[in-house]
Amino acid sequence: MHRNCRDADMTKLTRRALIHAGMGLAAAVAAPAGLARAQATPLILYNGQHRATTEALVAAFTKATGIKVTERNAESPELASQIIEEGARSPADVFFSEQSPPIASLAERGLLGQVDPATLKLIPDKFAARDGTWIGTSVRTRVLTYNKKLITPEQLPKSIMDVASPAYAGKIGYVKQDGFQEQVMAIVHIRGRPAALEWLKTLKANGRAYNGNRIASTAVENGEIAFALSNNYYWYSLAREKGAANLASALYSFPGDDAGNIFNVSAAGMLKTSRNQETAQRFLAFMLSQEGQVAMADTTAEYPVISGVTSPFELAPLSAFTAPVSPADMGSASDAYSLEREAGLI
Ligand SMILES: [Fe+2]
Repeated sequence: MHRNCRDADMTKLTRRALIHAGMGLAAAVAAPAGLARAQATPLILYNGQHRATTEALVAAFTKATGIKVTERNAESPELASQIIEEGARSPADVFFSEQSPPIASLAERGLLGQVDPATLKLIPDKFAARDGTWIGTSVRTRVLTYNKKLITPEQLPKSIMDVASPAYAGKIGYVKQDGFQEQVMAIVHIRGRPAALEWLKTLKANGRAYNGNRIASTAVENGEIAFALSNNYYWYSLAREKGAANLASALYSFPGDDAGNIFNVSAAGMLKTSRNQETAQRFLAFMLSQEGQVAMADTTAEYPVISGVTSPFELAPLSAFTAPVSPADMGSASDAYSLEREAGLI
């Protein structure tokens, strides 16, 4: 079993205490190994990813290594703020963010350590931070989920830029989190900042805001609204619950290489201040292992990031997405929040 920094300190202390207590050298040397095994320091994971996904991952990790994981769960942007506030006192070893911008905001502040190069090599560059401070662990695609009884694919907008045009007033639902900032950044990259601001203003004027992608997807399914911007896996989650054939809703992607066809990643990194760095690196490597990827891919309809692991969900091939902007280009998406404020959305 690998030992970590805290275990090494504990071993030193224990040995010293035993010697002071007058025990023989043989006993003093023999005891710490057993203690270290019994007391492997749990990994402290700040988790913003969907809990079911993380629980499946953590269970597989603990089964494979015997190392326990203590989770603190909250929304990813909140956890990133908490880590920034805690600074060097943060107990977090690893941050698992549902989206890349919150973890990128930590990288921009120099709060993350380097991911082991051997781990970084397991995934394509576009799924990892350019500075090697975080890894994408699964891919999700942005989609429109629409109600088949209320609108046909032919009637749906041909571009993300038109989703909130007056023709769709009252028909479009949106959620200001979980993929939304990446969407705004993609529009900034491809169409420019003024176009993104205008897009947000029309969304505010003609769209209906929902407080979560699951809520928006359910509203579409129930016929409360014709279509909504969302992430792909929410529809698959409904399909798993009710059977795809029984659903009133379906997924739609824009034709061509539209700015609406983006993917984003869930991402993880190690805190520079972690006192459990060997275990943290081991956990990150496990996230990109066959076992780790299978545990996550079986739980949610996100795409695995390593080759050789396939999703049990019948996902549209990722190659169908031209994805003009990659997660590595998104950064902390701070400009998306500025634009949302300028448009009066937040
Ligand atoms: Fe989500």
